[in-house]
Amino acid sequence: MNEKMQKVIASLIFLWYLTSTNAKSTPVVTLPDGRIRGEILDTYKQKLPFYAFLGIPYAAPPIGKNRFQPPKPVQKWSGILIMTSNPKICYQTGLEDALASEDCLYLNVYSPVVPGSNASLPVMVFIHGGTFIRGSAPSGFYGPQFIIEQNVIVVTINYRLGPFGFLSTGDKVMPGNMGLKDQQFALKWVQQNIHLFGGDPKKVIVMGQSAGSASVTYHLISKSSAEESWEKTASAYDKDLRKLVDPDMYITDATILEKTSAEIKAIYTNDTLRQDIGAFTQYFGDNRYMRAPIKYAKLHSQYADVYFYQFSYHGIMGNNNFTIDGIGRVGHAEDLRYLWSNYKSYESFPESDMRTLDRYVGLLTNFAKFLNPTPENSELFGNNIWPKVTSEHYRYLDIDRNITIQENPRKFSYGKWEDIFEKYATKPLISF
Ligand SMILES: *[C@@H]1O[C@H](CO)[C@@H](O)[C@H](O)[C@H]1NC(C)=O
Ligand SMILES: *[C@@H]1O[C@H](CO)[C@@H](O)[C@H](O)[C@H]1NC(C)=O
Ligand SMILES: *[C@@H]1O[C@H](CO)[C@@H](O)[C@H](O)[C@H]1NC(C)=O
Ligand SMILES: *[C@@H]1O[C@H](CO)[C@@H](O)[C@H](O)[C@H]1NC(C)=O
Repeated sequence: MNEKMQKVIASLIFLWYLTSTNAKSTPVVTLPDGRIRGEILDTYKQKLPFYAFLGIPYAAPPIGKNRFQPPKPVQKWSGILIMTSNPKICYQTGLEDALASEDCLYLNVYSPVVPGSNASLPVMVFIHGGTFIRGSAPSGFYGPQFIIEQNVIVVTINYRLGPFGFLSTGDKVMPGNMGLKDQQFALKWVQQNIHLFGGDPKKVIVMGQSAGSASVTYHLISKSSAEESWEKTASAYDKDLRKLVDPDMYITDATILEKTSAEIKAIYTNDTLRQDIGAFTQYFGDNRYMRAPIKYAKLHSQYADVYFYQFSYHGIMGNNNFTIDGIGRVGHAEDLRYLWSNYKSYESFPESDMRTLDRYVGLLTNFAKFLNPTPENSELFGNNIWPKVTSEHYRYLDIDRNITIQENPRKFSYGKWEDIFEKYATKPLISF
């Protein structure tokens, strides 16, 4: 065999090798809009292969004529789109990132099974937080590895943020709520397409964190973010206690407004808020993050199974050393670290951190699979069976170093808030 011939054969073999591994390792899915090619990655612990499709367009780019309009269908494409990175982030303030773009309506699908198989797996769709003005769905933070190991498909989505998502003229020119309509559009996309990735469109749960969970319940509305320091904020509230009163109470009478703010403050402290910064933080947490979900879960429990929990575990994995005297140690969004894979290595975390991760992933994926987070007794969950919220007992799971079952979340404050709303808010209430 001469040298030239050898070279040709070698490169042929090389080519054959390339194409055959390519065909095997990067599956192609044919969507109604066109074909996409994903990639194979490994899960963190068990090193199981899974299929990732990063940056699938679910709506037409919201630019030009589509700017400030509800999402429109994607234009069909020919050829194969390569889905091995998801660089697009929706425009947001405070982020000097070349990836930020108005053209950002993309989602990511991660599946533990070969696309095209009839696995009919449950699906978790995650809506990121960020007060509706920040955040994105890239896998750098929201790594699906732990959830995938529980044999559940994961979808994370981008949606328009800030003015691009929520500016409104209150008429047809700029109808508003584009960001929420994007989310709905993405959910429809999941209904229409997830079977192509091995998912069951009848077993989709939608979850979110912070603004994402507010989106899920359509209950909380973002307020402008305060750039001031925490103490300054507290002082501003001291100067004008009426700030303590939620505008959604629709109190216009000045005397009632004063009475209401005094009663709200008395739940937390009789000092100034600046002096008792822990009390102010408690107020802030209740007012912005706790009161509405507690009420929502109570109302919703009349119509469906509701499982309520509080994440109290404070570990190293939470990556939060911030602490204020007199309040718990766990910050907003700290729990996300125990669900999504976002560290390069998990080797150095203490066992209790890893156990908490296994528990949190286990409870939520059980819910996706069985609509019940503890379908049976399990050592992992300390043999606790998580009770539903009922009209008689508001029980919930406290996920701390040990899992325990508790009753009445925010016992010291929540009942007082209900009384205050009952006495002073203008009815009918449109939020709580
Ligand atoms: C999946 O199910 C459909 C309908 O039952 C069948 O036509 C198809 O061949 C199945 N595909 C695989 C990969 O099993
Ligand atoms: C503040 O004073 C009122 C009236 O004495 C009392 O009912 C309330 O418990 C006090 N609040 C706190 C947080 O100590
Ligand atoms: C938190 O504090 C501990 C102990 O001081 C330190 O080892 C750790 O690196 C800190 N973590 C962060 C995120 O600052
Ligand atoms: C947590 O559980 C372990 C073992 O079940 C027990 O030994 C320990 O006392 C518990 N800790 C707390 C704070 O309840």
